Amino acid sequence: MFSDYITLKILNYLYFIRILYDGPTKSTAYLGTSLFISPVVVCTGTHNGLSMTGNSDNQYNLMKERYNNCNIVMGNIEVNMMEHTRDLSFLQSIKEVTGYVLIAVNQFSRLPLDNLRVIRGTTLYDDRYALAVMMNYQKDGQHGLQELGLTNLTEILEGGVKIIQNKYLSYAPQVNWLDIVKDTIIIINKPNSIELTLLTFVCSHFTLTSVSVTKTICAPQCNSRCFGRNPNECCHIECAGGCKGPLDTDCFACKNFNNSGSCVPQCPQTLIYNKHTFKMERNPNAKYQYGSICVAHCPKNFVVDDSSCVSSCPADKTEVTKNEVKRCEPCKGLCPKGNQCFTIRNLDEYNRIPALDPEKLKVFNTVEEITDFLGIQSWPESLSDLSVFSNLRTIQGRTLYKGYALLVMRIKSLTSLGLRSLQSINDGDIYITGNEKLCYSNTVNWTRITTKRAAIKENRSVDAEVHTGLVCDPLCSSDGCWGPGPDQCVSCKKYSRGGTCVPNCMFLTGERREFATQSGECLPCHPDCKVQEGLETCTGPGADQCVACSRLKDGPHCVSSCPEGVMGGEGVIFKYANRQGHCEPCHMNCTQG
Ligand SMILES: *[C@@H]1O[C@H](CO)[C@@H](O)[C@H](O)[C@H]1NC(C)=O
Ligand SMILES: *[C@@H]1O[C@H](CO)[C@@H](O)[C@H](O)[C@H]1NC(C)=O
Ligand SMILES: *[C@@H]1O[C@H](CO)[C@@H](O)[C@H](O)[C@H]1NC(C)=O
Repeated sequence: MFSDYITLKILNYLYFIRILYDGPTKSTAYLGTSLFISPVVVCTGTHNGLSMTGNSDNQYNLMKERYNNCNIVMGNIEVNMMEHTRDLSFLQSIKEVTGYVLIAVNQFSRLPLDNLRVIRGTTLYDDRYALAVMMNYQKDGQHGLQELGLTNLTEILEGGVKIIQNKYLSYAPQVNWLDIVKDTIIIINKPNSIELTLLTFVCSHFTLTSVSVTKTICAPQCNSRCFGRNPNECCHIECAGGCKGPLDTDCFACKNFNNSGSCVPQCPQTLIYNKHTFKMERNPNAKYQYGSICVAHCPKNFVVDDSSCVSSCPADKTEVTKNEVKRCEPCKGLCPKGNQCFTIRNLDEYNRIPALDPEKLKVFNTVEEITDFLGIQSWPESLSDLSVFSNLRTIQGRTLYKGYALLVMRIKSLTSLGLRSLQSINDGDIYITGNEKLCYSNTVNWTRITTKRAAIKENRSVDAEVHTGLVCDPLCSSDGCWGPGPDQCVSCKKYSRGGTCVPNCMFLTGERREFATQSGECLPCHPDCKVQEGLETCTGPGADQCVACSRLKDGPHCVSSCPEGVMGGEGVIFKYANRQGHCEPCHMNCTQG
């Protein structure tokens, strides 16, 4: 199921730990406020240029997983180094690309991007090209790209086109480049010939009859596109790539945003000016921009940044959850250092990293949240658990590794997971498999942590665990444990103190008495509470929750001294202690207590 290239190649460096990963992510955006109007599937593209990671099989599988059923690619499509036998028909679902399209060094004969209408060119290849098709032929063979297949491409909003060194390509005759591209067009098909800007070449080859929605046949009044030759047959100004009628709902694609089927210059804003009150007010119909779509809610794994859905907050903002919605808000002071620092993106970067010293893994001790996934396919032999992640509470699963948010496989040294703080995995499955010495992981009640699937198998057998006494501490509840000892329980049978299960809180014994919260956590009573033999000391953490005070009492609060000269609502306040030890106000005329 897993090709082992990641382990293999990364194993040069022993450890494969990816915290943030530019990986495949697919989410479904539902348009419209209440109805599910045909869902548009949005996926993330790549940004590798011509560099390859892993072998071709792996590359192909990743690409297939990424683009299968995808309609809008946020980012770039990069198809490189694919053999002539590869079936790329999964690319047919793609209708829009926000970045560029790069097709290089492939051997297949036809590119099946038949439904691609718009390339937005928000990022460009080589800083110039929205579409680059280069060197697609077999060096010592007869295979190569013969047909471009971009039959529906009608708009490139930014950037040029470069189609060079495709030995077998019949210069893309069905595409009317002049009509589509504003910028540089370079088309040369013979390998090794001199590059020329062949605008004239293209001009001499297009025919007016080939496409019905071109700019070139439109009446001059239509400043964008038209659906006929008459001046009243212009497309709406918000259309991209043509239209079938004059309305903003007749566009083939939107120049800016698709708001429930209408092309609009911006999504309904979060604040709108109320002309009766002369104030900006919250817009109940606000939507967020998600790629080129307006959505009422950002997809689950995205964060709201102003009026956009983003996968992570910009550097000067931090993620805050309010009313179950995650938002980017400006940091007060310095932003907390995110896990961005552990981003490892491609093999070149891996190759430059020296083998990790197990000591250095301790940097993960402070990690409480992983926004994407944790994948471990290799681990230092000297470490028998993953306790360097012992403070990890949440894995968000915003992008996943092959569908997994937590993956631990074939680690020979592992005897327990030791993820004692892990409480939730918000998206993505769990895969903990083939770790031959791993105990305890099958005791964990995974349904407490995730609603997704957990594949926990082929680890050490349960019988062997019980036989050798490798069982959860008796203080753990039936939810299981992450390892041996009372500090590794998923939850406690009765009470806990600072993450360790205890048989009892110090209700009646000890110097520092405690109370228990609803969840069974033992917490200390306030220091001004009186410790009494055979009696509980407090009912909560406050100085007003003591059963008795150790010294004085001011109103409901136990205090060590009565207030003297503190600012009150009506001037400075002085109090004295009466015979019962209660603080009473001094007479109004007393000025110094
Ligand atoms: C192109 O778009 C049209 C209209 O949207 C569609 O009918 C057709 O199947 C698409 N694909 C090709 C290969 O022309
Ligand atoms: C806009 O989104 C709707 C709903 O998903 C879709 O049916 C329609 O084709 C889209 N329109 C354009 C122009 O992209
Ligand atoms: C596991 O946790 C779920 C959710 O908290 C609970 O409903 C279920 O009873 C637990 N299972 C066991 C075996 O304790």
